Amino acid sequence: MRKGEILSIIGIFANPQVNPRGEDSNLIILGFESSCDETGVGIYSINQGLISHSLHSQIQLHENYGGVVPELASRDHLKRIINLTKTALSDAKITLDEIDGIAYTRGPGLAGALLVGASVATSIAYTKRIPCAGVHHLEGHILSPFINTEKRDFPFLTLLVSGGHTQLIEVKAVGEYLLLGDTRDDAAGEAFDKTAKLLGLPYPGGAKLSELAKNGSGQAYEFPRPMLDQDNLDFSFSGLKTAVVNLVNKSSEERKTLSETNRADIAASFEDAITDVLVSKSLKALRTKHLKRLVVSGGVGANSALRKKLDQASENEDFETLYPPIEFCTDNGAMIALLGAEKIKNGVLGPAPFDIKPRWPLTQ
Ligand SMILES: Nc1ncnc2c1ncn2[C@@H]1O[C@H](COP(=O)(O)OP(=O)(O)OP(=O)(O)O)[C@@H](O)[C@H]1O
Ligand SMILES: [Mg+2]
Repeated sequence: MRKGEILSIIGIFANPQVNPRGEDSNLIILGFESSCDETGVGIYSINQGLISHSLHSQIQLHENYGGVVPELASRDHLKRIINLTKTALSDAKITLDEIDGIAYTRGPGLAGALLVGASVATSIAYTKRIPCAGVHHLEGHILSPFINTEKRDFPFLTLLVSGGHTQLIEVKAVGEYLLLGDTRDDAAGEAFDKTAKLLGLPYPGGAKLSELAKNGSGQAYEFPRPMLDQDNLDFSFSGLKTAVVNLVNKSSEERKTLSETNRADIAASFEDAITDVLVSKSLKALRTKHLKRLVVSGGVGANSALRKKLDQASENEDFETLYPPIEFCTDNGAMIALLGAEKIKNGVLGPAPFDIKPRWPLTQ
């Protein structure tokens, strides 16, 4: 679809006469992410790919509380979002006048945090009279491995492993998703974070636990691999977490302090168990659906033990595995700009602008 046609099918924000740019097929999209504790801004061009992005993580702000404090998160998004936008524009060496469309995370996420991105995005779109799309955060994660590559072969299987989700999704095309498996309790990232906390590591502990695990043995403790014997593609990690809790409690009841080696062994054994489950269920889904491509996304997708096992399995079972660059595994504005470009180029804008959806299943 050509730029002129795209602008003409879009509701109140679109007015081809006021858009100063011509009929060329390039579109430059500005994307905003503010669903949880990262403020992200990305600029994506249909012709050139990602031009720039800026990001602020609130990890330090929430660290003392052991988790995200929603009100603090919203205030911090508000404090950062304009400067991050200026940085992204100046890094891209363009001005707001050269932006053809806007995308923002409409949900799921924290309501107050989502409102910040929605307000800024729709205000700019309104004043500049350009299209605006409110997009799905998880859809952004699903497409994140394509931020730096044009290679996009459908269909594929996505293993989405983030702080709030553990899902296996068959992706037939952009916007066509079939949920094959989901977690029944904790998400993989949540299980990493809770286990890290038990080992005395600061929030969010996933990456730190993984570092600690490098000094330990994955065979030191025999932790359960939940639901592997069941004939479905769902996950459950609460039993695994309880096994670690029991082990840590037992040693404190016996008044033993966990040595550095014990902690590293627990971390390594936990990581070995959870990655075994993630790999095994992914292989089962690939076989069941006769798919030859696996795309991993979400923060836990940065885990090196998981990547190593999946790479090994890819070689043994002849399928291809794609990952986002490490910096785009966790939340960022680049994936939202990319997703916005896909939506806006196809004239798919979703409901009326200025709308958030804190609870929003991907398949709806
Ligand atoms: N190297 C790593 N190993 C394991 N876990 C990791 C690693 N790096 C990050 N994580 C985990 O990834 C999670 C954050 O990922 P992400 O930002 O994708 O989640 P989220 O945006 O909070 O959740 P959602 O997208 O489901 O709403 C945290 O739980 C964090 O501990
Ligand atoms: Mg996320």
